[in-house]
Amino acid sequence: MCGIFGYINYLVERDRQFIIDTLLNGLSRLEYRGYDSAGMAVDGDKKNEVQAFKEVGKVAKLRELIAESKPDMTKSFESHAGISHTRWATHGTPTRQNCHPHRSDATWEFAVVHNGIITNYKELKALLESKGFRFETETDTECIAKLAKYLYDQHPDIEFTVLAKAVIKELEGAFGLLLKLSLPARVPPLVIGVRTSKKMKVDFVDVEFSEEGALPAEQASQNAAIKKSSASLLAPPDKSLLHRSQSRAFLSDDGIPQPAEFFLSSDPSAIVEHTKKVLYLEDDDIAHIHEGQLNIHRLTKNDGTSNVRTIQTIELELQEIMKGKFDHFMQKEIFEQPESIVNTMRGRLDTVNKKVTLGGLRQYISTIRRCRRLIFIACGTSYHSCMAVRGVFEELTEIPIAVELASDFLDRQAPVFRDDTCVFVSQSGETADSLMALRYCLERGALTVGVVNVVGSSISLLTHCGVHINAGPEIGVASTKAYTSQFVAMVMFALSLSEDRASKHQRREEIMEGLGKISEQFREILKLNDSIKDMCAKFFKDQKSLLLLGRGAQFPTALEGALKIKEISYLHCEAVMSGELKHGVLALVDENLPIIMILTRDNLFTKSLNAYQQVIARGGRPIVICNPDDPEFSAAQTEKIAVPKTVDCLQGLLNVIPLQLVSYWLAVGEGLNVDFPRNLAKSVTVE
Ligand code: AGP
Repeated sequence: MCGIFGYINYLVERDRQFIIDTLLNGLSRLEYRGYDSAGMAVDGDKKNEVQAFKEVGKVAKLRELIAESKPDMTKSFESHAGISHTRWATHGTPTRQNCHPHRSDATWEFAVVHNGIITNYKELKALLESKGFRFETETDTECIAKLAKYLYDQHPDIEFTVLAKAVIKELEGAFGLLLKLSLPARVPPLVIGVRTSKKMKVDFVDVEFSEEGALPAEQASQNAAIKKSSASLLAPPDKSLLHRSQSRAFLSDDGIPQPAEFFLSSDPSAIVEHTKKVLYLEDDDIAHIHEGQLNIHRLTKNDGTSNVRTIQTIELELQEIMKGKFDHFMQKEIFEQPESIVNTMRGRLDTVNKKVTLGGLRQYISTIRRCRRLIFIACGTSYHSCMAVRGVFEELTEIPIAVELASDFLDRQAPVFRDDTCVFVSQSGETADSLMALRYCLERGALTVGVVNVVGSSISLLTHCGVHINAGPEIGVASTKAYTSQFVAMVMFALSLSEDRASKHQRREEIMEGLGKISEQFREILKLNDSIKDMCAKFFKDQKSLLLLGRGAQFPTALEGALKIKEISYLHCEAVMSGELKHGVLALVDENLPIIMILTRDNLFTKSLNAYQQVIARGGRPIVICNPDDPEFSAAQTEKIAVPKTVDCLQGLLNVIPLQLVSYWLAVGEGLNVDFPRNLAKSVTVE
């Protein structure tokens, strides 16, 4: 989805070349999120002049466009604010015109880049048009710049933060945005990286709250009416309501602002090469960077939430977001899994003493044990990982389990109660559907748990407690290592919940032992890489469709494999519950239809074999994922992918890896862009 990157230097002299390169590099670090056009705005040659560059396609094309435009790259700026953006089209097709940044007017008095959706943009647009504004694009974003300009023209001496608050008050939807010189955020979040030559005085920034919201009561009610009727625009808030403290972190001993650089991004991976010092904005924070100081303002009055934002040191290393020796991020991430699952278990699973400790859940574990229901809510791959662990949760905890697709859960406005525990599983922690479902559950008083990869993401911040899966940055749009780490993290969650159950003692020990061996078993499976590559070329080249069959705990594995194959190789692939085959799908089966069947041994093996026989009887020649040397598949003509055996409830972890490799080699075989599949984005931050 859209990515935002901003760079501000204050009292640190930089030439235009450096500024533009920094912005372009920042954008290329965000490329993995998925986008269809890119743009930036930097200062022009004269005072108050802005130069904007916009291009459809990749960041490399924007780089070319800038080179062709030949701006004076030697021009130097002691202080400067540049903003840039990768766009994933929601309102209006990918054209130069619709590219961000968008402007308030021909002079670019206000420039804006934005991630998310403004749901009331039509009303705002109609209103601003009635005030004489002429819109140039089909985007929802443009109304932000024009609204800022309209308010500013009415009150030219208004402070920037007051103006920003007034603008944000009028916007509805989920958004993070950069207004030139200012940075307000309301989901998805923005991260601010800070680089100073001297040590910062303190490692936090104070938050300034509005006393009664940003607006006096009379104006607030006036505005509510405006939102309904769109009849006239608000007057800006009374600036006497704004307290302005100094940002202690950025002052030298004598109280003078010190040279500083700020990197503003949708994602820490674009920041890590410049600085490790970062600050995560929370929902509704407005960051205002002015004269080398960062101030954080809130639209709301202090509701008891923290009045500081900590400047943290991120542990992310640059090489973690580089491809290294691999051709694609997805390939790297598939091959990282023997280590990433160890990282998920590190310090949590003690295989010697058979103990699981999940620090992030410790305070809540007994409450969760008493809950009426555990509801897992997620999308896509994360939803599949929830399905994959449903059985082990039911078995170990004996708590009723529901697994929900976030969008469907919201569409149904499903009942949620105070004694429910709702678990939100998300790699990015920013998926709009999951995030909205989280808010829905919070409003209903349920206990919420996050199972998230990205530290500091919205879901990890908004849930009461949770587990970081620690899989490391996942850049490939197709989720691979996050799936296996989510799976392991949730199995550990189930193990923690059942710690007090004597009847489950033996089973728990068996699972923990199994977890201890998984990493080595992953390594064994990854040795099948070449044979799987050959198999793809031999059996699936130029096919139109593929069936993936699994039963019980292996149905989610089939669903996940089918999703991987569809999303990066564009081959239609359908996951079918083997038991359902005879109820319709069998009609598709003949000697030509490619089929993969998951037939590792578990308590449903005999039933799964029925489906196998049904396929064979119709001339089908399925490729079988089975355990090594299974006599059932000893016939020389049976095509097999042999995976080691583990505890039944963990078998899906192993079985999914050949399917990840199948999807990868299918896409490579078709010459497709594995890491950036068409139409898709890494973090789906729109509904
Ligand atoms: C996975 O390969 C997909 N790209 C997609 O289904 C993804 O899992 C889904 O959008 C949910 O994302 P999340 O885990 O970041 O919430």
